Amino acid sequence: MNPPPVSHAPSWQRLQVLARQAPSLRALFAADPHRFDACTVEAAGVLLDGSKQRIDAHIRDALIELARARDVEARRDALLAGAIVNNTEQRAALHTALRLPAGSRLMTGTQDAAADALTVRHRVAAFAEQVREGRWRGHNGQPIRHVINLGIGGSDLGPAMVQQALSPWSAPQVRFHFVSNVDGRHLADTLRTIDADGGAACTLVIVASKTFTTQETMANARSARDWLLRSGVPRDQLGRHVVAVSTNVSAARAFGVDEANVFPFWDWVGGRYSVWSAIGLPVVIAIGAQAFEAFLGGAHAMDRHFADAPIERNLPIMMALSGIWNTNFLGCGALSIAPYHQRLARLPAYLQQLEMESTGKRVSRDGQLLDHDTCPVLFGEPGTNGQHAYFQLLHQGTRVVPVDFIAAIDDDSGLPGHNDALLANCFAQSQALAFGKTLDEAQAETDASRAWLAPHRSFPGDRPSSTLLLDALTPATLGALLALYEHKVFVQSVIWDVNAFDQWGVELGKVLAGGILPLLAPDAPPAPSMLDASTAGLVARVRARRSRCR
Ligand code: F6P
Repeated sequence: MNPPPVSHAPSWQRLQVLARQAPSLRALFAADPHRFDACTVEAAGVLLDGSKQRIDAHIRDALIELARARDVEARRDALLAGAIVNNTEQRAALHTALRLPAGSRLMTGTQDAAADALTVRHRVAAFAEQVREGRWRGHNGQPIRHVINLGIGGSDLGPAMVQQALSPWSAPQVRFHFVSNVDGRHLADTLRTIDADGGAACTLVIVASKTFTTQETMANARSARDWLLRSGVPRDQLGRHVVAVSTNVSAARAFGVDEANVFPFWDWVGGRYSVWSAIGLPVVIAIGAQAFEAFLGGAHAMDRHFADAPIERNLPIMMALSGIWNTNFLGCGALSIAPYHQRLARLPAYLQQLEMESTGKRVSRDGQLLDHDTCPVLFGEPGTNGQHAYFQLLHQGTRVVPVDFIAAIDDDSGLPGHNDALLANCFAQSQALAFGKTLDEAQAETDASRAWLAPHRSFPGDRPSSTLLLDALTPATLGALLALYEHKVFVQSVIWDVNAFDQWGVELGKVLAGGILPLLAPDAPPAPSMLDASTAGLVARVRARRSRCR
């Protein structure tokens, strides 16, 4: 039975009333000098400082009541037990099974998902160790020096982000390249780099695609295979240079990959939740099986916390609730992700897919049009770079954009002074956003002859943020951080009543591209008259340009 619309819940209506007089952050901090202690939650090496959210005890209680009214705990238990939570595709969403410790059991129908995951994990680890140790050799006996991951979306963003984030653990003898775009420049530029540094003979291509039908990845896979052959790899030796990760083992085999070199996963792993599966193969090659186990272990520790902690101390649930407050009651339509850690530069892109593909929905699980907002627009850049680009709007723009600040205390750059400057900036930004500078304060520090400048120099404040602080960015804390966001997204999907595990919204564009593609061919017939005028005009312009250049 589907729940009644969330907007009918008494706690939702109470929150609407509370939002009319949302407390200011200045007042909240003035009222409670221990607010930091009261509003921090810590789990699996991740500390959440939620004190700079505009939430007082009444709002917090109403949010918790809302979570209870939406059965968040029961829905969480169902998710973790392997229930069919993806109702439109009739699938479980068991990414948590991928990080269960050896010896665990988790049945999906007649299959033990935990045992299946462990078997593949061992295969991935054994293969990765061969590559890392130079025992896996190319056709002419050279060890692998370049790994190219061909994938897009969840088959790219997770491994690319994690490999970069954990680069200090990475095998120095191997270089990693992540090619996602169907734009041939992406692959061509990568192959040019490799050609100048050992070439195809020392290159391993991983074709990573859950479906093994994705247009971009298959186009790149075909072009990479042609390059290998052109570069002298004998056809019967392609298996030394091409492996695959997919749920569609037969399609990978049909493409020409030896079955022994296809690393499978299952339909109960969503693309954007797949970095923990064999999709993590490039990461395992990079950091080794032991560090990858630590990455899974960190995620599992967060899973345990999510499963066991009471709502008020439950990090993912509390983070989800502050997001709901900001989105649905304070009217914030965006969320900025600001990692103050250069190696997390790709985290905003990863979280864009995780959040926007999961909860960027407008109908409920049973197909009713929703009467409330869902996922905010996510964007971000590493700090401090973002400060010198879009933070102006965050501080003084007309829209309020909450921010997730993410930082690690320990430094491993070896360059004195940098890390303190980084942390000082991170903390200062959330301080400035929260407390601002009143017009009076701006006037007081402005020379009387320049009083007209005071409005430009004042900051409204009351711009909410959370800070996620790690002691250090390690495989374990990164795993915990990503699992935290996964669970936050799930909790929000429960409250908003959307299916977090499908993505029908990407389909229409794919189908339409299939119709436009043949119209761009040199000998294509004239564009059909039913094509809209804009698309027809753009197609005609391309064809005119090409016929002039022929
Ligand atoms: O188009 C969206 C999407 O289906 C994502 O959900 C997915 O991560 C990506 O495409 C890639 O899909 P695949 O791994 O099947 O190639």
